[in-house]
Parts: sequence; C-alpha cells; structure tokens
Amino acid sequence: MTTSALEESTQATPTPQPDALLEVRGLTITYPTPTGPFTAVDGVDLVLRPGDKVAVVGESGSGKTNACMAVAGFLAPEAQVSAEAMAFAGADLRARRALAIPERITGVGVVFQDAMTSLDPVWTVGQQLCAVIRHNEKLSRKEVRARAADWLRRVGLHDTERVLAARPYELSGGMRQRVMIAIALSARPRLLIADEPTSALDATLSRELMQLMVELTEELGAALLMVSHDMALCQAFTDRTVVMYQGRVVDQGPSRTLADTATHAYTRGLIACVPRLENADWKRLPTMARVEGVPA
Ligand SMILES: Nc1ncnc2c1ncn2[C@@H]1O[C@H](COP(=O)(O)OP(=O)(O)O)[C@@H](O)[C@H]1O
Ligand SMILES: [Mg+2]
Repeated sequence: MTTSALEESTQATPTPQPDALLEVRGLTITYPTPTGPFTAVDGVDLVLRPGDKVAVVGESGSGKTNACMAVAGFLAPEAQVSAEAMAFAGADLRARRALAIPERITGVGVVFQDAMTSLDPVWTVGQQLCAVIRHNEKLSRKEVRARAADWLRRVGLHDTERVLAARPYELSGGMRQRVMIAIALSARPRLLIADEPTSALDATLSRELMQLMVELTEELGAALLMVSHDMALCQAFTDRTVVMYQGRVVDQGPSRTLADTATHAYTRGLIACVPRLENADWKRLPTMARVEGVPA
C-alpha cells in the first residue's frame, strides 16, 4: 500500500458497530525496511462482541501477532499503523499515538507466548501480581495479598505462599504461563488476548490451560481473542476462527464448521494438515506447499 493510500484509508468513515466491544476495519501495519515498506498486516477487519471467543490462525509471519498487538497497544515504535476504524469499548484507538507505542490499552489483558521474557526476572511473582491488583483497585496491603493468592488458586497454583515468593525462573513453564494468566485476568479485562499462549507446552497441559482461560474469561464476562497455529485447539475452544495469510484475512467462520465452509485454498490446506483418526494411516500428512492454488 502506498503512503497516500494509507492516508486515504485513515480518513474514511465506516459504518459504526454499536454493539461491538472491538471493531477493527482496514487495519494496515507497515515497517520501513532498506528495500522499501514491508506490509505485515494488510487491511484486516475484526469485530468482537462482548463474550465472543475468536481464534486467529495462520502460519508464522502471517501478521497475527502484529494485528493483535495493535489492539493491545504493544507495537514497536517503528510500526506505521492506519485503520478505517479501530475502536475498543466505544473509545477510538486511532486518536491515540499509543497505536504505535507500547502503552497498555485499558480493558485489554494480554498473555504472551513466552512468560520467561514477559515476566520481570528480578521481581517475585507476588510483587508483579500485587502491582497489577493495586493499580486496579484501592485495597489494603493485606487485601491485595489475599486477592493475589486467590488469583493463583483460580489458575490452579495452590501452593500460594511459595509461588508468591518465587521469581519466574524458579517455576516450571506451565506454572509461569498460569502466573501470566492470573496477572492478565486480575486486571479484570473486558478482552483477553492470548498470543500462542500454550505453544511452548505439551499437548495435555496446553488443553488444560486453554480450558482454564476459557472458563475464567467466561466468569469475568470477557471476550477472548486467541492467536494460534493449532486448528484443533481453535475448533475445541473458540466460536469463530479467522484465518490470516500474508497479512490478510482470507477466511473466517464458525470454528466447528470452518472445515465445511472454508473457501480459500490456504484454509483448506490448513484443515487438511490437522491430524485426525481418518488420516492416521497416512505415511505423511500433507504439507502446505502441496496444496493447489497456494503460492509456495
Ligand atoms: N519490528 C518489525 N520490523 C520489521 N518487520 C517486522 C517487525 N515485527 C514484525 N515484522 C514482520 O511482520 C510479519 C508478521 O509478523 P507477526 O505479526 O509476528 O506474524 P505471526 O504472529 O503471524 O507469526 C513478519 O514477516 C515479521 O518479520
Ligand atoms: Mg506471532
């Protein structure tokens, strides 16, 4: 997209979606590179209503993280962002230069893929969790501590005193991810964005933590936007799946029936790659390069 086209798309006035919690229209993110601008996200539309559970799937580099981090306000300063509409809970996010700087957008919680690089290595879990709780609610020291222990129990960490006193490196990967979920949800977000939250964990733990995130967001009445490359997980835990390919949304639909409704060759390829009992006797699962109509 050229600079003038970017400017044009920012000025357009789309039809507002009154019941939407999150409304993104024509989101485009480019980065300057030595060979010219690189478009990481190219005209993405995304509408979430309160309580929606939406998955964003696509291969590595398809722009999933960029699209979600624009919503959360975590993009790198060099990112050039434009959108026809970008609103969260009625507030126009485009009015804030925060679109391009790492500043939290109130009401949006984020669980990143790698808790080791997202948690502060020198602070204890208790210090990090209590800081979030204190920031959001006026409570006494004792109440904050009790609330923190309560959140740890809710995410399945019952040895609360030990976990509160621990630094992130003293915990297992699964425990750290539970701590991240507790920190994100303790701010009582209206939207939780989970960017490949369980990719570093084994399949059983992955499912358990997904189940936990779904239950807790439902309890809070929050919406869930889950980034994943795991189609099977998306089908099990979300209502709607959005498929991204080379920065664009190429398909979307109800997660359970996407296999029947998908129109784009890339989506059909992704679905064909999901291991199922019917293809268990194949010597090799199909790979994306062999799907007709999709550039290698
Ligand atoms: N700060 C940056 N500068 C330049 N290019 C970037 C930057 N961040 C991401 N990209 C590029 O944007 C594309 C999309 O990245 P990303 O959103 O992380 O994809 P995904 O999450 O789907 O793997 C990738 O090709 C990546 O290299
Ligand atoms: Mg990513």
